Amino acid sequence: MISRGPDGRFVERKTTMTTKIKKHDIPRIFSGIQPSGDLHLGNYLGAMRQFIELQDNNDCIYCVVDMHAITVPQDPEALKKHILDLAALYIAVGIDPKKSILFVQSMVPGHAELSWILTCSSYTGELSRMTQFKSKSRGEESAPTGLFCYPVLMAADILLYDTDQVPVGNDQTQHIELTRDLATRVNNTKGETFIVPEGRYLKEGARIMALDDPTKKMSKSDPNIHSRISLMDPPNKIKKTIMRATTDSEAIVRFDAANKPGISNLMNIYSVLTGESIADIETSFTGKGYGDFKKELVGVVQESLAPIQERFNDIRYSDELITVLKDGAERANAIAVPVLARVKERFGLGL
Ligand code: TYM
Repeated sequence: MISRGPDGRFVERKTTMTTKIKKHDIPRIFSGIQPSGDLHLGNYLGAMRQFIELQDNNDCIYCVVDMHAITVPQDPEALKKHILDLAALYIAVGIDPKKSILFVQSMVPGHAELSWILTCSSYTGELSRMTQFKSKSRGEESAPTGLFCYPVLMAADILLYDTDQVPVGNDQTQHIELTRDLATRVNNTKGETFIVPEGRYLKEGARIMALDDPTKKMSKSDPNIHSRISLMDPPNKIKKTIMRATTDSEAIVRFDAANKPGISNLMNIYSVLTGESIADIETSFTGKGYGDFKKELVGVVQESLAPIQERFNDIRYSDELITVLKDGAERANAIAVPVLARVKERFGLGL
């Protein structure tokens, strides 16, 4: 029941519905990536590495979030290509469609439906406080409404599958918090409707910084291609980008994120890709300069990406990829339909 509270704001009063949601025996994991350009080392080290590790002991669902991509203008041909590129990359980095569900968001209608229902449970104030909206809209009135509602669609993605955990990089923290707030708000007003999910962040790799400016995060949309290493970059591009990466004038390979963000970011990448601790890296590069370290890092990155690129080329134009995505959409839909039915019932929608 909706009424105005003492401060004049709309408030929804709690109903008496008490049905419990069954907890999963095996944790349910959901995450998504936008098909909005070349995936980079940040996406891999912050998010995809977790996806692979989680799929052995959890019930994992991974999504190509194409509807998020259209919150900014997209060329339809290019978007189609990027959807398939991303799906192939998921498999190339190690997502096994036999263990995990892999699908394209727009092929499961429940995302858009739940997004609208959650939009009606969200406040314009909380959405306008989202830093991603503030930076992308730059305060302009012509900013697309889709950009404004982006975090609600993300909440719908997560809540539609009764998700327990969401592996992401730490740039998504605010979105995950909003998802939790929306789930809790609906649970408090309509009776238990959603599982309140947790974000899952890695200690190392959760925020890979741009290589040309280590004060910014590595991003797909940065106009400077040397700000990032894309997963499909050829060896010479990897070399060029790393050798020209911004460091400092001290020339000592020492980790100090606050005062030496450039070399610390490179050491972080080295550490995550090789499994060597930061302390061991510092020891093995004692007395050596940044040039030596960067040359080693070039080799490490090239060797890490070569098998991914090879697998990508095998799968990208195969019929198998389409079969995997169609099958994934069916399996995802089978989970989404009863959850959406529960939500509609709680809201009193339909007959
Ligand atoms: P997207 O497509 O920007 O990024 C995909 C994943 O990569 C992580 N990431 C990074 N991690 C470390 N360092 C970086 N520099 C870096 N850049 C990106 C992101 O944190 C993310 O985990 N809103 C999401 C997509 C999304 C989603 C969802 C995620 C839509 N629905 C539901 C989880 C659950 C996004 O734009 O990710």
